[in-house]
Amino acid sequence: MEIKDKLLKEAIKAKNNAYAIYSNYCVGASIYSENKKIYSSCNVENISYPCGTCAEAGAISAMIVNGDRKIVEILITSSGNELVYPCGACLQRISEFSDDNTLIHLADNTKVCKTYKLKDLMPHQFNAKELAND
Ligand code: THU
Repeated sequence: MEIKDKLLKEAIKAKNNAYAIYSNYCVGASIYSENKKIYSSCNVENISYPCGTCAEAGAISAMIVNGDRKIVEILITSSGNELVYPCGACLQRISEFSDDNTLIHLADNTKVCKTYKLKDLMPHQFNAKELAND
């Protein structure tokens, strides 16, 4: 099975567990990391709307807590009729743990429909080098 097929399977599983009772828009995201592991998550909404979190944020947290720091591929799928593009905040989150080769796959329920590099979706990233400690 190809990596992207495994990612799709995990993202769909995550999406099916999404807690999206306010928008009814379920999202699943899964990451293939540099350490060759797969992490996935869904969106988790809240009655206090701004407290909700995106699927990508959860998948990135799962990767980080396992000691991985690099996204090799990330796949996003949703319950909507159209492909889900990561929101601006999630592009920024992805950019923190990506490099120029990181792939962003957008999938429907059965297959990857589009694949991008981060720069395609976010030509410029906030990256103030002076904030780095080293
Ligand atoms: N959502 C994500 O999970 N990822 C995105 O990149 C875009 C939006 C979620 C947040 C909210 O729970 C629902 O989709 C509707 O905005």
